[in-house]
Amino acid sequence: MAKRGSGSGAGALWALVAALCLAQPPPCRPLPPPARNLTEGRLRSRALLAALGGSLRQLQAFNTLGFECTLEELDLEDITENQINTIKACTAEHSGTGNCPALERSTFDTNKCLQGIYEDLKAYRAELKNFNNQKVLTTIDEMMKGLRFSSTSVLQPSSNTGSTFKDRMRLCSVLHAFRIRAVTINRMMNYLTSPESSL
Ligand SMILES: *[C@@H]1O[C@H](CO)[C@@H](O)[C@H](O)[C@H]1NC(C)=O
Repeated sequence: MAKRGSGSGAGALWALVAALCLAQPPPCRPLPPPARNLTEGRLRSRALLAALGGSLRQLQAFNTLGFECTLEELDLEDITENQINTIKACTAEHSGTGNCPALERSTFDTNKCLQGIYEDLKAYRAELKNFNNQKVLTTIDEMMKGLRFSSTSVLQPSSNTGSTFKDRMRLCSVLHAFRIRAVTINRMMNYLTSPESSL
């Protein structure tokens, strides 16, 4: 109680400074180091695209699924439509003209875009957790690690026990949809690492 008399002004100031510090961590604490290497991300996205293309060719060549897994016969479903995804996060919404959404440099948010890419990888990784192609799974994991968003447990593949026709059809469809998304992801990574994206 004795201290409160003369010191209350300084005490209040300290309290205010402390409160500001707590409310705004950046000025008071060192920032985390810039984590992502986009060049590496671009290489990984290309590796992912190659792995997906390879896995589809393999399925087709060996007739692994018991039917021709071609894009033409599929009704593709977007498993990411109800979440943040590459399309929503990297392209301007409501950008009018048809199916070729425009990049708007003025409003482009790199972090949001990378988050969208990450969420896509996560969704497809979960969908493909039983997929018997380690190369595809590893490439996804590597790319997710490189993007370093909130930690996710890396899903271990479980044994691929007797899949039904419906399961195999779904696998075929998911792989095609993912390959198409991977093309977009690769384009975005190319854009993000191109000199013009930092203008
Ligand atoms: C980013 O990754 C590329 C390719 O792996 C590498 O050549 C480059 O040195 C890395 N850059 C930084 C800043 O770590």
